[in-house]
Amino acid sequence: MTVSQASDIKSMEKAGQLTAQLLFYLEGYVKPGITTNELDKLAYDYTLSKGATPAPLNYNGFPKSICTSVNDCICHGVPDETILKDGDIINVDVTCIVNGFFGDSSKTFFVGSVSESAKKITKCAYEAMNKGIEQISGTSTTGDIGFAINKFVTRNSYFVVKDIGGHGIGRKFHDDPFVPSFGKKGKGVKLKPWTCITVEPMINQTSAKMKEVKIPNSTILYYLTGDKTLSAQFEHTVLITDTGYEILTKL
Ligand code: MF3
Ligand code: CO
Ligand code: CO
Repeated sequence: MTVSQASDIKSMEKAGQLTAQLLFYLEGYVKPGITTNELDKLAYDYTLSKGATPAPLNYNGFPKSICTSVNDCICHGVPDETILKDGDIINVDVTCIVNGFFGDSSKTFFVGSVSESAKKITKCAYEAMNKGIEQISGTSTTGDIGFAINKFVTRNSYFVVKDIGGHGIGRKFHDDPFVPSFGKKGKGVKLKPWTCITVEPMINQTSAKMKEVKIPNSTILYYLTGDKTLSAQFEHTVLITDTGYEILTKL
């Protein structure tokens, strides 16, 4: 787990705020007709203009500055010449490095007007993330987070992705502990005050086994639902305090 010294907390807050601002900036461009490559270029230029670095670019060979996961893409979608069309949903996942500290956040956006089923799974993913975050304190565990997420998602008749989840974050992009979207109360890893984690549940409409796809020249994989149904996700970077938490990537 990444230990944040007292003086590092300010730095994590700064990284989190730039990350939130970048995501808000990109949201304004998510419209029918734009390509995911254009969103990537906007993100790259914005991040550099703020003196920061887009963490995904060249991370384990990942070729772009953001992840853009459209419809049945669960995560790590690679920006390309895909044109967004009315009715799509897209998760935009951004990570900024500011003075050596990482902020990581994602949201699922609507492209134009979307179906009721798209609205419903997106709302569930957002609420599931918040249910997980609400569990965070200096006395809780990763299992508490996962349990709360999975309980909420199951009650809404959706399915959590088990193989991918949140992570410790700080001076490293991905650190211990793994933060699952399922688990048992009191189990898993005890959360450590004054360190940071992400909470980033991925929610599917069915239990179809997901497909892994290789990204050329990269060890990163991207993931699709097994049956082309929708997947949605939200992510925040969160500071664990003695008694609770602070969401670092909220505007
Ligand atoms: N931002 C993703 C996460 O939430 C990681 C993307 S890694 C990349 O952990 F290489 F695909 F960019
Ligand atoms: Co993350
Ligand atoms: Co992310």
